[in-house]
Amino acid sequence: MKLRKKIIAGNWKMNKTVGDAQELASAVKLELAECREVDVVLCPPFTALKAVGEIIDNTSIKLGAQNMHWEPDGAYTGEISASMLRDLYCHYVILGHSERRTYFGETDAIVNHKVKAALDSNLLPIVCVGETLEEREAGRTQEVIQTQVEGSLSGLAAELKQVIVAYEPIWAIGTGRTATPEMAQEAHAFIRRILTGLSDAETAETVRIQYGGSMKPGNAEELLSQPDIDGGLIGGAALDARSFVEIVRHGM
Ligand code: 13P
Repeated sequence: MKLRKKIIAGNWKMNKTVGDAQELASAVKLELAECREVDVVLCPPFTALKAVGEIIDNTSIKLGAQNMHWEPDGAYTGEISASMLRDLYCHYVILGHSERRTYFGETDAIVNHKVKAALDSNLLPIVCVGETLEEREAGRTQEVIQTQVEGSLSGLAAELKQVIVAYEPIWAIGTGRTATPEMAQEAHAFIRRILTGLSDAETAETVRIQYGGSMKPGNAEELLSQPDIDGGLIGGAALDARSFVEIVRHGM
């Protein structure tokens, strides 16, 4: 038995109306409904969660959301809670994506609140971290990743086993510029060392760390064959059923 089952998630971001989402989910289902070798997750926008959930019901494909609020309910206009996501049969939620951090001011402290709220509601958080190009070129990659991982996951320890970390170098997101497998492996191994510090080696060995940033059918195999790369968080290539399915097959 492999220690860590690979997990490939499609982050559809702010794309797809309900009808388009149904079409994409149906096409993915046709190929991957019975997929057992890899955990497959679809993360449509909130407005399409219910429709996509109905399509993948009774398959091995799971539903994920792209964000949530940390409070259980209340006067937070425009926000969505963990229990609302559970209500729609979400299993996963992406938290602290760099687009949330950059455009909506999410800090590590906010992400940490959200991670705890997700776990309290039995949602598995996919927690995103990653450096900017400027930070990488200044030799600050490790320092930035360490601050984000420790800040986003503080106070968790044993619950870390339920968390998925996504390493998404910001300069590789939507740019067509992928981290080389060696660069990604180095960052993933570093993240696992930080997780060991937050818990213990046994726990850290069970945590799945996804790579995200211009992952495509053409580079997925090499990335996914690295020892500490346990899956992918796919943006652009997840909007096309054929390329998403092909990436999943590389993870099998
Ligand atoms: P791309 O695959 O489009 O680079 O996006 C990656 C990402 O941000 C997934 O969350």
